[in-house]
Amino acid sequence: MQTPSGHPVESSSAKRLVVLASGGGSNLAALLAAHGDAAYGARVVGVVTDRPTAGALDLAHDAGVASAVVSMKDFDDRAAWNDGVLEAVSVFQPDYLVLAGFMRILAPSVVRRFEGRMINTHPALLPSFPGAHGVRDALAHGVKVTGCTVHLVDDGVDTGPIIAQTAVPVFDNDDEPTLTERIKVAERALLVETVGRIAREGLSLTGRKASIGR
Ligand code: GAR
Repeated sequence: MQTPSGHPVESSSAKRLVVLASGGGSNLAALLAAHGDAAYGARVVGVVTDRPTAGALDLAHDAGVASAVVSMKDFDDRAAWNDGVLEAVSVFQPDYLVLAGFMRILAPSVVRRFEGRMINTHPALLPSFPGAHGVRDALAHGVKVTGCTVHLVDDGVDTGPIIAQTAVPVFDNDDEPTLTERIKVAERALLVETVGRIAREGLSLTGRKASIGR
C-alpha cells in the first residue's frame, strides 16, 4: 500500500522492528526490501548502530527509516552505553529487535527487557562456531557443511534458542570471502522469511525449543 507521494503506509497490524547493525547492512537491506509489502506483517521502524560509519545508516536514510547512533566512545562506561542502547531502541516502541550484524554484546538487563523478542542472525550452524568469526572458525575447523542460524538472544554469546537454520556447503577452494558470500545469500533469505513468519504467526518457547506459531 502506498500514499500518493509513494511512501508505504504502515499497516496497523504490522509488527514494529528495530534493527541493530554494526556493518554494511546487507541483512537490513533484505528486510527493507520485504517490509514495504503489507502482507509481510512487519515494518522496520528504526535502525540503531554502534558505529557512525555503518553502511546500515545509509540504507536506513535511503529507505526513509529513522536511525540512531549509540557509539561506545560517547559513554563513560559499558553500563551507560547499554542504557543508551535501551533508550535508543525504546523510542521506536519495537515489537521485536533484530540484531543483524550487531557486533556488540548487550547487557543482561537489556536482553531481559526484550526477552523472547530479540532475534539474532549468525553466520554458522549454532551451537558450532559462535562469536565474531563464525565463517573463519568453520573454515579453519575443516567442516564440509556450515550455514546460518536465526535465534533468540539470551545472556550468552550466540547461545539462545534456535528458531531456524539453513545449511550451506563448504567447497574445497573456499576462502573466507567466498564462503561468507555464499552464507550471506542463504542468511538474508532465512532472516527475511523467519522474521516475517514470527511477525505473522508469533513465536512460542518450550524450554529451549522455539517454534513459530502460538
Ligand atoms: C552477518 O553475516 C551476520 O550473521 C554477522 O555479521 C554479518 C553482517 O552482515 N553477525 C555475526 O557474526 C554476529 N556473531 P551485514 O552487515 O551485511 O548484514
